[in-house]
Amino acid sequence: MSEKIRWGILGPGGIAHKFADALKAIPDAEIVAVGSRNLQRADAFADTFDVPHRHGSYIELANNPEVDVIYVATPHPFHKACAILCLEAGKAVLCEKPFTVDAEQAEALIACAREHKQFLMEAMWTRFIPIMVQVREWLVDGVIGEPRMLTANFGNQVPMTVENMKGRLFAPELAGGAMLDIGVYTVSLASMVFDAPTKIASLAHIGETGVDEQAAILLSYDAGQIASLSCAITTRTSQDARIFGTKGAIHIPNFSRATSATLEVIGREPLQIEIPFTDNGFEYQVLEVINCLRAGKLESDVMPLDESLSIIKTMDTVRAQWGLEYPPFSSVL
Ligand SMILES: NC(=O)c1ccc[n+]([C@@H]2O[C@H](COP(=O)([O-])OP(=O)(O)OC[C@H]3O[C@@H](n4cnc5c(N)ncnc54)[C@H](OP(=O)(O)O)[C@@H]3O)[C@@H](O)[C@H]2O)c1
Repeated sequence: MSEKIRWGILGPGGIAHKFADALKAIPDAEIVAVGSRNLQRADAFADTFDVPHRHGSYIELANNPEVDVIYVATPHPFHKACAILCLEAGKAVLCEKPFTVDAEQAEALIACAREHKQFLMEAMWTRFIPIMVQVREWLVDGVIGEPRMLTANFGNQVPMTVENMKGRLFAPELAGGAMLDIGVYTVSLASMVFDAPTKIASLAHIGETGVDEQAAILLSYDAGQIASLSCAITTRTSQDARIFGTKGAIHIPNFSRATSATLEVIGREPLQIEIPFTDNGFEYQVLEVINCLRAGKLESDVMPLDESLSIIKTMDTVRAQWGLEYPPFSSVL
């Protein structure tokens, strides 16, 4: 492995810009290549972030020998094909959330990483932010006793402009909708606290364009724990998470990008902690990938592949309850 971990960016769209901002601030990392379906878009991104290798195809990027690890940042339906392309070319992969559109895709992707003995991780950046590390420590230390209930809400009101209505969030052919885009954070949090649910119940409003505009999801677990989750792209809701245990509770405001949390232990004064990001918050998942690669690990202990699969399985069950099916996806390669 080279002195700095050499990153390639695949799909230089909205989130890739934010990711590159974080990457540029990490001394142990450099962006050496970008791949777009269109060379002009690769050039524009490369000019912005001072990237030496620009590729007008994802295949060229995957085969660039100067690259150690590729960040896959396409819309959801293309994560699997793009990540497999990179893994087969001998690259480690950090793949945007949701990991894939469904469990069948996730299983194929994980099998490919294992067959090629390449690192693979879902870019569930929220897991790696310092507040979430602190929350996990509180849970492991039993500070709130046994966690019994959890609520997490993540609703945005995306302006109904013509441009947005034609964009990926409202497009069934791009697996749009609230759950896969932001509901996944709530499902992932419940998974982090309680593991895989044994019972799932859900309701959704499917909007005019044929995607879930808002949804509520109830999960229950072997020992009777319950998670109550909601997500929306047409309604702004609170974006808080609360974990209730037998001895107290944890409140995480804006849980997906939290910089503070409050610990409320019964009989004690509430303890509020604040831990600001050093950059835009994406830096922590990048550091996790770098540490795993340097340690020769093929997956992260914090966001393991089997858990990413389990999260997708939960969302498959939820979507089946709504009767929501996407049209066949186009090919991206
Ligand atoms: N972690 C987070 O906070 C966060 C936030 C937003 C989004 N995301 C995730 O990141 C992924 C990308 O989201 P985004 O908002 O960045 O998407 P986007 O800007 O709409 O698309 C990203 C790039 O994907 C490429 N692409 C390939 N096939 C495409 C197609 N058929 N239609 C449109 N673009 C296509 C395009 O790049 P080229 O054509 O130039 O190759 C495009 O610029 C999603 O899976 C989303 O869930 C994560």
